[in-house]
Amino acid sequence: MDIRDELQATVDALVQPGKGILAADESGPTIAKRFKAVGVESTEENRRAYRSLLLATPGLGAHISGVILYEETLGQRADDGTPLPALAARQGIVPGIKVDAGKIPLAHAPGDEITQGLDGLAKRLAGYKEQGARFAKWRAVYNVSDTLPSRLAIEANADALACYAAICQEAGVVPIVEPEVLIDGDHSIERCAEVTQDVLHELFHALHRHRVVLEHTLLKPSMVVAGQEQARQAPPAEVAAQTVQVLRRTLPAALPGVFFLSGGQTPAEATVHLDAINRQGPQPWGLSFSYGRALQEPVLQAWKGSAGNLRAAQAALLHRARLNGAARDGRYDAGMEKAGPTGASR
Ligand code: 13P
Repeated sequence: MDIRDELQATVDALVQPGKGILAADESGPTIAKRFKAVGVESTEENRRAYRSLLLATPGLGAHISGVILYEETLGQRADDGTPLPALAARQGIVPGIKVDAGKIPLAHAPGDEITQGLDGLAKRLAGYKEQGARFAKWRAVYNVSDTLPSRLAIEANADALACYAAICQEAGVVPIVEPEVLIDGDHSIERCAEVTQDVLHELFHALHRHRVVLEHTLLKPSMVVAGQEQARQAPPAEVAAQTVQVLRRTLPAALPGVFFLSGGQTPAEATVHLDAINRQGPQPWGLSFSYGRALQEPVLQAWKGSAGNLRAAQAALLHRARLNGAARDGRYDAGMEKAGPTGASR
């Protein structure tokens, strides 16, 4: 297939009404932290068992169009020998891969960070593609204060994101660009809006400079919310209005899809916010979810490392995926929280 057709087919498979992305690409230290919270040791076998459980969830493909995996998972197999990426693909879920190598302090910019991983990326992508990955993710983070992030951090991270996106497109892999304005701190929602606008404006400028094709690019931004330690937390309608305003000011209409990260919001908050965003009216791009914690927290709580809890854990995942699928179309209501895995009341 021509590379452009290949990229377009992946975009079309990912951007669908009622569906979003499951982020299951926690790095070694991060998955260890998530497991520890439910008393599970992070061994390779436990990670394999857990991620097999996620991808084998019956019916997940009705609400999830793609899954972001960590490098280790791409090479793992389910109990019956099926490679884990194939397990996802079997239910129409496109496998993707986190390709950045994490963040380090940005030199000469105290408090700012830069994401690394560009060296050898083209070669790594060729291998990931052979293992079944069709799209990739690169996460940049921005710490917020009255003075952070610096102009330097905004420009350096935009450039790295754009370099990564261009390399992905040359390889026939759809790039998800993830600029995460962190929720940590006591900043106001207005400060978050200001930073997010600067970050996105610079990002799309860099994507243009690096000749990235916007029609074959997906964005994974944070929502515009107040810092977690801020006393005044905005109601969902205000989060939605501020988020949509920033996106409309900065995102070209050629971009096919936006997949929000949850970034420390509770599962319920992340769903309510996405629903409120989609109730703002039609936008040029699909507005969906690519949640890690907001989809997986209830799953980990139900699983706790025990094979006997597999069905309950899968039911928890399907339930949360269904609610977010409804929110993606602005069709969520709080009563659905009580419905069980089949949609019937418990
Ligand atoms: P959260 O939804 O937990 O923020 O994870 C999304 C993600 O992929 C972070 O890089």
